[in-house]
Amino acid sequence: MDLFNDLVIPVGSSHLTLIRLMLYISASFLFAYTGLLFGSVFLSTRAASKAKKNNDFRYQKMAQDLIKVGTGITGMWFGLGIVPFLSFILSYPQLLSGTEGDVVGYLIVGLLVFSMAVASIYIYKNSLNFKSVFYSFKTNVRSKSESLIEEYHSLDEDVENTGSFTGIWGVILLLVATWFLAGATTYAYDQSMWGQSIFEMLLSASTVFKALLILVMGTAFASAVYMFYAFSWQGGYDFATEEERQLSKNFVRRFGLYSALLIPLVYAFQIVNIPNNALSGLMFVFGLISLLFVVFYAQSIYLTKSEDHASGIKYGFMFIMISFAMFAAQDQQAFYISNAANLNSIAEIHAKAEEERHSLYATSEEEPVVDAQAIFDTRCIACHKFDAKGVGPAYNDVVPKYEGKEGDLVKFILSPSPQNPSEYPAGMPAQGLTPAEGKAMAKWLLGKVLGGGEEEAAPVAEETTEDASASNH
Ligand code: HEC
Repeated sequence: MDLFNDLVIPVGSSHLTLIRLMLYISASFLFAYTGLLFGSVFLSTRAASKAKKNNDFRYQKMAQDLIKVGTGITGMWFGLGIVPFLSFILSYPQLLSGTEGDVVGYLIVGLLVFSMAVASIYIYKNSLNFKSVFYSFKTNVRSKSESLIEEYHSLDEDVENTGSFTGIWGVILLLVATWFLAGATTYAYDQSMWGQSIFEMLLSASTVFKALLILVMGTAFASAVYMFYAFSWQGGYDFATEEERQLSKNFVRRFGLYSALLIPLVYAFQIVNIPNNALSGLMFVFGLISLLFVVFYAQSIYLTKSEDHASGIKYGFMFIMISFAMFAAQDQQAFYISNAANLNSIAEIHAKAEEERHSLYATSEEEPVVDAQAIFDTRCIACHKFDAKGVGPAYNDVVPKYEGKEGDLVKFILSPSPQNPSEYPAGMPAQGLTPAEGKAMAKWLLGKVLGGGEEEAAPVAEETTEDASASNH
């Protein structure tokens, strides 16, 4: 992935802060949305298989509503999934440049699998929609034609099969994508994985528990969002009967509660497995806040048992959202701490590049390195030699008179004025050098002619001599 390393341009230390902010925002979106989508398709396939098993269409309807949780807003998979994935791919290498942490490959695999999962999930969603259409045909259309009914049945079956196939693949692919996502972000702060095989990354306990945490939190998130839409927002869905309402509440609430119980456990394992060099007080604070909001979430889900407290669900999904944001903060903090040394050295490089750029434009004594020899070879050599006269005078004859008057020599080189019109009536044409180049040339000529020939090879710009500035006045 040298291509991505080559993309790293030292832009300035302030950009580092910007990149870190972008990483944090991307991590929040990506963890939360991957989790939500997983919870959504996982719960939906559970409901769909229950619908099939019990031949109960109410679960079918639930499956449809549940998949909307993760796909309901057009393009959310792109904005909340693909875009943050891409920004990971562009940002992590910048902060890891100069180390052995080659995280890009894992992120790209994650992105590819994620895209496949999304495709699968949308086919699954459409199968569910078709299934409803068939159901409504079956119940509303009375046809005498046996062959027509036969055809409906086989189409129905086909859709059913496509639905369960793509649903299961949606779950599996998203699981793999989450695994890679968790692995890549863990890899970024766990130096012990650097240079190791992909299995080291995938099978380490910190990766596994982090992936598990995203999935369990996502299931909690999806149940909370479903319950919010079904029972709270704008009065909730129109359920045909009170019984159906209870049925759907109990089904989803159960998953919400189980996941609420599981999260603290998985969280604990996840934190315990973060490598020592990534630990910090702030990281634990973020983790603790995250857990605190899981407790709030559990409370609000639990309270939905009684109808009086149904409004508790209003906040359930917000609690999980905050919990995800804090989890992302914890993750990025771990990354920051474990890579602090490298980040500092990158910041230094950036600061230096910034300074150099400034000095180019500022009126400081420092100049960029100019290769005087090269300028001589290309622009002066046609008319000048050191020891013999050509079109112009020999440098050894004319340069000594500028001893201690470097400023005058610079002035001449930049805009030649007649010196010896009797011998050189045409004078010297201006050579179009920049001030920095003129200065470098003057210094080089003086060094060559007067300085004995040893030190003139030293890069001209590196010495910021006082006499240069003195002779300028
Ligand atoms: C087209 C020919 C030509 C080129 C190219 C040329 N010079 Fe000259 N140079 C001259 C001539 C002619 C003179 C004599 C001018 C005079 O005495 O009025 C001269 C004089 C000089 C002098 C002596 C000035 C003095 O006070 O007597 C210096 C120093 C010098 N050139 C430096 C350079 C440098 C450095 C370059 C390349 C960047 C360069 N020249 C390129 C033709 C040239």
